[in-house]
Amino acid sequence: MKDQIKIRTALLADVDGIYDLLELYVAQGIVLKRSKEDISFFIGNFTVAEYQGKVCGCAALRDYGNDLLELRSVVISPELQGRGIGRSLGHFIIEKLKKERQEWRLFTLTTTPAFFRSLGFSEVVKEAFPEKIWSDCSKCPKCHCCDETALLITS
Ligand SMILES: CC(C)(COP(=O)(O)OP(=O)(O)OC[C@H]1O[C@@H](n2cnc3c(N)ncnc32)[C@H](O)[C@@H]1OP(=O)(O)O)[C@@H](O)C(=O)NCCC(=O)NCCS
Repeated sequence: MKDQIKIRTALLADVDGIYDLLELYVAQGIVLKRSKEDISFFIGNFTVAEYQGKVCGCAALRDYGNDLLELRSVVISPELQGRGIGRSLGHFIIEKLKKERQEWRLFTLTTTPAFFRSLGFSEVVKEAFPEKIWSDCSKCPKCHCCDETALLITS
């Protein structure tokens, strides 16, 4: 099954698949909601895992400038979790960053820190990313009772 998974940069044709996948986890409060318009506009920032012609995983980068990026919207289809697809997706993105940039800092905020540790991320304090706090955290209903861990990997 693993050799039938294709990891690639997303295309506009993937928007519905990405949206449907994210919605499964938006409902559980695990990832932030993204509209189809938002996904379409930033489609070039998404990487997808494809299985049997369908999107079965995705992850997106957000570029804050100054070599700081966020890894967000990281999800794998429930029925395909635990088979290394998330790891492949993460490695693909990190390898691409290594090729394309000299210096970079990639952070994430997550309720699943063990997964990101397995990719080489280390725990840091959230206050290290005021850009994120200004843009998303300040609008989040869990702003004052945040259950997410911040992790960072750097070039
Ligand atoms: C978290 C998630 C993206 C991981 O993808 P996956 O394909 O299931 O993970 P993999 O099979 O590639 O596992 C890679 C490693 O992460 C660990 N891991 C994966 N999911 C984990 C979890 N929920 N809790 C703890 N560790 C986890 C695995 O044990 C494995 O560790 P190893 O390298 O020591 O063997 C996926 O399970 C998912 O979509 N979960 C629901 C949404 C979510 O929590 N997204 C995270 C963003 S907040």
